[in-house]
Amino acid sequence: MQFPAVDPIPLPAPIWLLKLLHIVTLALHFVAVEMLLGGLLLAVLLSLFRGSPQSLVTARALARRLTVVMTFVINLGVPPLLFAQVLYGRALYTSSVLIGLYWISIIAILTLTYWLLYQFSARLESGKSAWWVGLSAWLLAGFIARLLSTNMTLMLRPEVWQQMYSASGAGAYLPTGDPTLTPRWLLMLAGGLFIGGLWLVYLSGRSTFSADEKQFIAGLGGKVAAGCGVVYLAAGLWAASVQPAVVKAGLAGQSAYPLYKFAGFAGYGWLALVVVAVLVAAFAGFGKVSAGWLGWVGVLLAMLVEITFTVYRDGVRDLTLLSKGYDVWDRVVVTNWSVVGLFLVLFVAGLGVVGWLVSVVARATKTMEAASL
Ligand code: HEM
Repeated sequence: MQFPAVDPIPLPAPIWLLKLLHIVTLALHFVAVEMLLGGLLLAVLLSLFRGSPQSLVTARALARRLTVVMTFVINLGVPPLLFAQVLYGRALYTSSVLIGLYWISIIAILTLTYWLLYQFSARLESGKSAWWVGLSAWLLAGFIARLLSTNMTLMLRPEVWQQMYSASGAGAYLPTGDPTLTPRWLLMLAGGLFIGGLWLVYLSGRSTFSADEKQFIAGLGGKVAAGCGVVYLAAGLWAASVQPAVVKAGLAGQSAYPLYKFAGFAGYGWLALVVVAVLVAAFAGFGKVSAGWLGWVGVLLAMLVEITFTVYRDGVRDLTLLSKGYDVWDRVVVTNWSVVGLFLVLFVAGLGVVGWLVSVVARATKTMEAASL
């Protein structure tokens, strides 16, 4: 057994419930991450190549929202981190310690990225050159994504831990030789532009833009989402193809847990949803349609794409760990129902408060935009 000994304290809630909460919160984190990675790059490019007055209006509208998006990236990252530690602690703590120096540096890099986002938006608002500030923020965010992909793949490779620890106990080395790491990271980056494009299609429905601006934003967003959706599909197929044979077999239902064939179905669901989203985006982009309903269809598709992706990704992790002797379902559970009940009430109330906050911010942005016109 290459994993540390299991914690003798039993889990306080059923494993299926912890996994469900993990997948829901992680899918929401991924939506925010993709909006950040894609929206930021689009805003940088629009502010660099100012082809038309609408380019700058769009870059400003995106940049203004990115600081808010970042709060969602962070706050929606915390719950899945806690659930992942409960379910996979023996693997995740080990890999986090092995790349400890980089892992802890995420806090500093994140703070710098956040500050740069504010600078980017402020410089755009005051008409100063801003693209290089935004690009620096994007590079740092992309590096954080790389570190997260590194840790989430290293936790699946107990066979390299010993040798990494012998090379350095200071956590100063990044692992090498994992064929799944780069496709997985590039998949997230490509997904950024795909979701960023859908976000623009949604934004084009906002009443604060003029008819010209709406048409520009919908056209651009649709084309970006359609084009990058195809790249996203290709990256997804690549990331799936480099998974070990035992994982692919498990996703087809051939493992000790046939239940994982649902994760395999989720993979096909992801594929179908991205194709539909590409068609919807092409309709918005090339048909130059900026109807509000189209934006909402984009939002719904983006959510479903991230949920199916997260379910599939969860299957890949469980099956990889299972093939190395780590069975996530094999834990002693002593459910404390009163605590679970209290947690669920607070969780639902928390989601309600977040929804209310989003609506307040949306209304405030509308008022600010109307005032600045
Ligand atoms: C700019 C900021 C961030 C970016 C760009 C980012 C990006 C990513 C990416 C790309 C992944 C997927 C990695 C993979 O599996 O290949 C990921 C996973 C994750 N992120 Fe973030 N993230 C950011 C901030 C955060 C923060 C602040 C937290 C927590 C406080 C967080 C928590 C997580 C967790 C827990 C996972 C994986 C969970 C799991 O696999 O169970 N992230 N993030």
